[in-house]
Amino acid sequence: MSSLIQMIGVKKVYQLGETEVHALRGVDLELKKGKFACILGPSGSGKSTLMHIIGCLDVPSSGTYYLEDKSVGEMNDDELADIRKDLVGFVFQDFYLLPDVPAWYNVSLPMIYNRVSPKERKKRAIELLGRVGLGDRIYHYSNQLSGGERQRIAIARALANKPEILLADEPTGNLDSKRGEEIMEIFQQLHEEGKTVIVVSHEHYVAEYGEIRIHIEDGLIGCEG
Ligand SMILES: Nc1ncnc2c1ncn2[C@@H]1O[C@H](COP(=O)(O)OP(=O)(O)O)[C@@H](O)[C@H]1O
Ligand SMILES: [Mg+2]
Repeated sequence: MSSLIQMIGVKKVYQLGETEVHALRGVDLELKKGKFACILGPSGSGKSTLMHIIGCLDVPSSGTYYLEDKSVGEMNDDELADIRKDLVGFVFQDFYLLPDVPAWYNVSLPMIYNRVSPKERKKRAIELLGRVGLGDRIYHYSNQLSGGERQRIAIARALANKPEILLADEPTGNLDSKRGEEIMEIFQQLHEEGKTVIVVSHEHYVAEYGEIRIHIEDGLIGCEG
């Protein structure tokens, strides 16, 4: 089977005034569909940059990135937007939920872009909240919920458009280790259900969950396991 994700010599250079910041310095990465990968590295090593490129929120400065055998560098804006809408779901450290709407509404938002009917949006949002163990928090506002619960809402939202790939950038960064482990267990469960899951983190306990561990340091990666 060919790879879902294949990167060859991917570099990312940010221009900051006169200075060039080499965030990725030639990343080779291959990941098959259905895998659960944890990418670990210290702050500033290039984790978020790599995630943004994987999820087509940003493009490499050079190198090649194939997603489902298609070269991302040759895609137009519409194709990139479709990938962000349909193929990937994002989870971030800061949750990024609307504070004063019910949990189900936050989960339902991405479905608007896929023209799902309002009734179906709510039904599916409620199902997804059940899947992340929040069946009894459907009408809570996010500012009435704990950090771990907010992150579970964010995971449910990331699943709204049935993405093939779930990308999580420091998803446990704002949580204590017990809540963090609960979040990692949800990713584990989603992986067992067939999703491709990629988590980046600087926290070592996160690595215990991935099938594949990838270390990133100074914009370069090395694999183990
Ligand atoms: N938009 C940007 N402009 C300039 N430099 C950036 C930008 N984003 C990230 N960087 C730099 O690129 C490097 C990698 O950053 P990042 O990918 O955010 O690392 P991590 O997520 O591992 O902390 C860091 O040195 C950071 O300062
Ligand atoms: Mg980061």
